Amino acid sequence: MDLFEYQARDLFESYGVPVLAGIVADTPAEAKAAAEKIGGTVVVKAQVKAGGRGKAGGVKVVHNGDDAATAAEAILKLTIKGLPVNRVMIAQGAKIAQEFYFSVLLDRANRSYLSLCSVEGGMEIEELAVERPEALAKIEVDPIAGVDLAKATAIAKAGGFPDELVDKVAPVLVKLYEVYKGEDATLVEVNPLVLTEDGQILALDGKVTLDENAGFRHPNHEALEDKAAADPLEAKAKANDLNYVKLDGEVGIIGNGAGLVMSTLDVVSYAGERHGGVKPANFLDIGGGASATVMANGLDVILGDPQVKSVFVNVFGGITACDAVANGIVQALEILGDSATKPLVVRLDGNKVEEGRAILRAANNPLVTLADTMDEGADKAAELANA
Ligand SMILES: Nc1ncnc2c1ncn2[C@@H]1O[C@H](COP(=O)(O)OP(=O)(O)OP(=O)(O)O)[C@@H](O)[C@H]1O
Ligand SMILES: [Mg+2]
Repeated sequence: MDLFEYQARDLFESYGVPVLAGIVADTPAEAKAAAEKIGGTVVVKAQVKAGGRGKAGGVKVVHNGDDAATAAEAILKLTIKGLPVNRVMIAQGAKIAQEFYFSVLLDRANRSYLSLCSVEGGMEIEELAVERPEALAKIEVDPIAGVDLAKATAIAKAGGFPDELVDKVAPVLVKLYEVYKGEDATLVEVNPLVLTEDGQILALDGKVTLDENAGFRHPNHEALEDKAAADPLEAKAKANDLNYVKLDGEVGIIGNGAGLVMSTLDVVSYAGERHGGVKPANFLDIGGGASATVMANGLDVILGDPQVKSVFVNVFGGITACDAVANGIVQALEILGDSATKPLVVRLDGNKVEEGRAILRAANNPLVTLADTMDEGADKAAELANA
């Protein structure tokens, strides 16, 4: 889960990372009030989960409440990298002497953590990494050892900080690592980390990604979720504890086991090439115990997607045998009644496959077509979606 800048700022503050005052505002009037509360020079900043806000006109320096309102009005009309700006943060203005870059992130390939650091921050770090890679230090961080003052000093030195700045910046890097570790983050990035004219080190921007798999350790993380931006189908699936990801196509997919569902997506994509380019509409793994309720909830979510034209149910009976799955499908269609209107292609295999198929044949629901193999099922579902 990615955080907004203002959420990262609050988190930084709670860990003792030096930050400036920041107040969120949803309207120009709130922006004015916030600017007047902070006083002096403030920066009106678009709150979107995308980089390059400054370049897109989403960061404006102003000197009084009225100008803050005007800036907020303009920024709240922007769309940055496809994301509408619904909120701004009014941040206290800093007198910047120098801008730096620091991040720590999960390095999956090396099963480790990685810290990136440069005394040349502010600009887009991707550009720096391409144009002058030697200016961006990449230092491995051992997850067991972490970042203590000695490690932070080594990181800052590698990033090109002069000696007199290393001592100032290292304790802040230690605190930022504490945020990373303490919150189970997979990314903590500060660009820019700045030196002010009066010699303070401050985090002026923050990007934090939290590991949702560690959510159970952090009950407070749920409040950080951006419920307004969540896809309504994904939100409904989540409320029903379903493993659902919305995709862009027309063929709804239900399967059991993530691996089977992933291969189903591939097979349907290939089949779609023969049928007008239709594609999978979602990923949905109903897991091992495919009860009627789970099947009904899954079908309900998928049929609620207006883009869906057909559904492919691809189940391999294991612990939950095919007869139970077949009963689940029959009951699910009964539960859904008139709201089930799209054709279903069902491929069952594995434990008790004959019994399962017999149940579906006996139910004789006109929406349901049986397929013997996965390829056949994918082809039929793609054909129906393209009809
Ligand atoms: N509180 C502040 N006081 C003074 N200047 C600021 C402040 N916040 C940001 N700036 C200036 O604006 C620039 C851009 O701000 P920021 O890094 O937050 O946005 P961005 O880099 O455009 O967005 P993103 O990080 O999303 O790409 C900074 O590099 C800094 O020079
Ligand atoms: Mg930035």
